[in-house]
Amino acid sequence: METYRAFHRRSLEDRDAFWSEQAKLIDWHRPCDQVLDYSRPPFARWFVGGRTNLCHNAVDRHLEARGGQKALVYISTETGEARSFTYRELHLEVCKAAAMMKALGVGKGDRVIVYMPMIPQAVFAILACARLGAIHSVVFGGFAAASLAARIDDARPALMVTADGGSRMGKPVLYKSLVDESLRLATHAPKKVLLFNRGLDPNLTWVRDRDVDWKNAEKDISSATVGCEWLESNEPSYILYTSGTTGRPKGVQRDVGGYAVALASSMKHIFCGQAGETMFTTSDIGWVVGHSYIIYAPLIAGMTTILYEGVPIRPDAGIWWKIVEQEKVSVMFSAPTAIRVLKKQDPSYLKKHDISSLRHLFLAGEPLDEPTHKWISEALGKPVIDHYWQTETGWPLLSAMPGVEKTPLKMGSPSFPVYGYDVRLLHEGTAEQVADGEKGVVTIQPPLPPGCMSTVWGDDERFVKTYFGGFRGRHVYSTFDWGIRDRDGYYFILGRTDDVINVAGHRLGTREIEEAVNMHPNVAECAVVGVQDALKGQMPLAFAVLKDPGKGTSTQEVMETVDRQLGAIARPKAVHFVTLLPKTRSGKTLRRSIQALAEGRDPGDLTTIEDPGALEQIRQAIQEEKR
Ligand code: PRX
Repeated sequence: METYRAFHRRSLEDRDAFWSEQAKLIDWHRPCDQVLDYSRPPFARWFVGGRTNLCHNAVDRHLEARGGQKALVYISTETGEARSFTYRELHLEVCKAAAMMKALGVGKGDRVIVYMPMIPQAVFAILACARLGAIHSVVFGGFAAASLAARIDDARPALMVTADGGSRMGKPVLYKSLVDESLRLATHAPKKVLLFNRGLDPNLTWVRDRDVDWKNAEKDISSATVGCEWLESNEPSYILYTSGTTGRPKGVQRDVGGYAVALASSMKHIFCGQAGETMFTTSDIGWVVGHSYIIYAPLIAGMTTILYEGVPIRPDAGIWWKIVEQEKVSVMFSAPTAIRVLKKQDPSYLKKHDISSLRHLFLAGEPLDEPTHKWISEALGKPVIDHYWQTETGWPLLSAMPGVEKTPLKMGSPSFPVYGYDVRLLHEGTAEQVADGEKGVVTIQPPLPPGCMSTVWGDDERFVKTYFGGFRGRHVYSTFDWGIRDRDGYYFILGRTDDVINVAGHRLGTREIEEAVNMHPNVAECAVVGVQDALKGQMPLAFAVLKDPGKGTSTQEVMETVDRQLGAIARPKAVHFVTLLPKTRSGKTLRRSIQALAEGRDPGDLTTIEDPGALEQIRQAIQEEKR
């Protein structure tokens, strides 16, 4: 491990030299004056004064050497479409999208909400924003109108880009009425909506003077060339909303130069993806993994990236490996839940295709249990690399780095701190480092490396308070994850310290779900906790107190309220009605105790409980559910 250790040490001890070398992996219109400005902790400004553009690095700079190489391969097992775009074609499409947006009034610094399914136009729109210096905010297509409206009001976009719908398991998931409703609900609705009509919605309606048909608008600007806006490295590139402790999602703001450098460097040192090769990331563009490893990183590296619309088991459980064979995928990135889904299928599908091109499978987003890690490693006969990171960091924080040194993998562990990250496990109370083998909070000693969030959109104070406020006034970044390090230096992640839960790799806040449950007119109050689930990792479970129990409210109605407010991804596994919630005498709901009971563990210290009868009701409800 000496090579890795030296590499990691140098990234911290000789920081400026290290990162100026990494900065050479991308194109700069103007080089930076200063590698890092850390004069206003904990705000880190990377490559100060440098000018660059994400779209230039992802597209234009490859035109000369690889204009005829495939940049984007779109495969939809939902609609049966398959199309690929060379770098030259991608450039043309992105320029057209940028010209359309420009014509609709979008300029540098303007926000654009992208609410799109997994289609090439989503990638064009995102890259077009980057090209114009506009700030994209992609909202996952599974979020409902109210969630979308909340994000619109925070970002105050000039434009929304959407489509008539997505598709899941062969069934259209229509967007338009939801988009219309979100714009009615929002106070700061954009004046224009650019809509790509896939023909999934026979009853599609257009709002006059607001909705613009992508295909029509495109006709007018077929020969457009739109140049890249050269941005100062620290100007915002995008906002991506993510869940935390409160019910209000945070807009994670990312920069331009630091992000491009971090991604380019991660392709070299972690993912080992080279120009001309193919990467297949099975996430969705609405999540951070999609931003970084479907779109930006593989394209910045001059690779071919695969945009897959579909599920892992349709038409059959061999579809991913078929794609690997067909497209000669060398780097693959997925999530543990998907592997657990595959594990339930006929294992012969794994042997049907020639996957000899594949070098590594990377998995992240949620804990990777040992049996699943072992199963997939053996089934593929390839190294399966568990790595750990967050929307906030934008790229891996803990990982094996085969591009630096091939270190042995340990099942259940995302290996070691990635270069640039000064990771410390701190005791929650004393803020001192814990000994090896002891549980602590995974923290990063700032400055955060390039690529990590610059701030919370529009709220510097929230950024400092939320992430750097937990350790006795010292500026330490908290990941809000528990971790442990063994004697060999391998880390293990033990779950969140806050109220964030992870459902099939989708990050959700239990407070957000509680707020959604509370929107039901007959719910007085509720508690939502995450409980272990063999397939999805975790599932939300709700306990609600009704205002009028005689009204005949059904649990189904409450679930539908959640669907409408947040989206079906947040729907509780079950809703139980109780007459009171377990609370402390000062009125705090004992969520940890509820969660423990639901997972069959000891509820812990109950000396502060107001009424023990409340916990008894929870216990009974869980027993009934099991029966
Ligand atoms: O709790 C950790 C879990 O997912 C959270 C971040 O989720 P998100 O912001 O959606 O970003 C996902 C980027 C891959 C973390 O705080 N998590 C992520 N990776 C792992 C993990 N938990 C255990 N093991 C992992 N490899």
